[in-house]
Amino acid sequence: MSLAPLLSIRDLSMRFTKPRSLADAVARRPRKVVSALNGVELDVMPGETLGIVGESGCGKSTLARCIAGLNRPTAGDILFEGESVVGLKGARRRAYNRRVQMMFQDPYTSLNPRMTVRDALEEAITVHGMRSGAAVGRRVEELLDLVRLPEGAADKYPHEFSGGQRQRIGIARALALEPTCLVADELVSALDVSVQAQVVNLLMELQDTLGLTVLFVAHDLRLVRHVSHRVAVIYLGAIVEIGPSGPLFANPVHPYSRALLAAAPSLDPAKRRRKPAIAGELPSPLDVPPGCPFHLRCPHAGEICRREKPALRPAGAGLAACHFAEALPGA
Ligand SMILES: Nc1ncnc2c1ncn2[C@@H]1O[C@H](COP(=O)(O)OP(=O)(O)O)[C@@H](O)[C@H]1O
Ligand code: SF4
Ligand SMILES: [Mg+2]
Repeated sequence: MSLAPLLSIRDLSMRFTKPRSLADAVARRPRKVVSALNGVELDVMPGETLGIVGESGCGKSTLARCIAGLNRPTAGDILFEGESVVGLKGARRRAYNRRVQMMFQDPYTSLNPRMTVRDALEEAITVHGMRSGAAVGRRVEELLDLVRLPEGAADKYPHEFSGGQRQRIGIARALALEPTCLVADELVSALDVSVQAQVVNLLMELQDTLGLTVLFVAHDLRLVRHVSHRVAVIYLGAIVEIGPSGPLFANPVHPYSRALLAAAPSLDPAKRRRKPAIAGELPSPLDVPPGCPFHLRCPHAGEICRREKPALRPAGAGLAACHFAEALPGA
């Protein structure tokens, strides 16, 4: 079975030019450039949940924002159903913005505190013309039901809900637009662990029943493993490994994926102990190393790694970007 990808991300780069400090301006030093994404290659298949993991500062949110159209990439392309979406304008931009919905860590900041849940949902439904007349009210009830909030929730304000309930309201508002794809950036990271599970399980259920495509960005590997069909590991703004969740977590190929998983708390509490951190520091995205972005921290780095950036190619059950993918111990 070969399906066409819903999203194809091709050689995507995003640089931010930092404002110059006064001292730098006086000394005529060049502006600093942050390379947040450096040639991301990624296919997202329709109906899958793709986890995106990597250390803080690796570019996960920037990638999510580019896909959701909130950042315009500096170079490269994003294809949605085969059509480039980077330069979309007008009605086509609005149609894309409806079909790809971004959800944030704290819906409290994106929910208007002076609007009841009903008003917020009605607004979302009518702005995009999803329903009209009496159907709008019925749709509000349906949405609350989908995210398991009681009917009485409709006439309350955001501050009257707990964090987990607010996250459900955020999901309901995203679903109001009947999206094809949800981009969840650290959706539950701010919630208590017990509440995280409820929200994540709800998301998985909705993904399944509504056939949604979900990009699940998170730094918590256990959550990602639980929800994702496939997982992409990102390092300094590039995908270094991608593959089916089970094999990738059991037998990661790329030395960075191995280090990232080894540094994470064990899934089995009996085996939980202090884990070694990944050797060395994350290089600054102001100064991305040439060659393999991981070579300064990699125990297997050879001469070629300092010169040539490895491309993603078949390795293990998926793809990995490492010159020595086949030759590594245990590969
Ligand atoms: N608007 C911005 N202006 C300047 N630098 C940014 C901006 N957004 C992100 N960055 C930088 O890009 C890099 C990647 O950030 P981000 O995508 O937020 O990573 P993550 O979500 O993986 O923690 C970081 O170095 C961050 O400081
Ligand atoms: S390409 Fe070289 S430096 Fe990069 S991960 Fe592989 S062995 Fe390590
Ligand atoms: Mg982030």
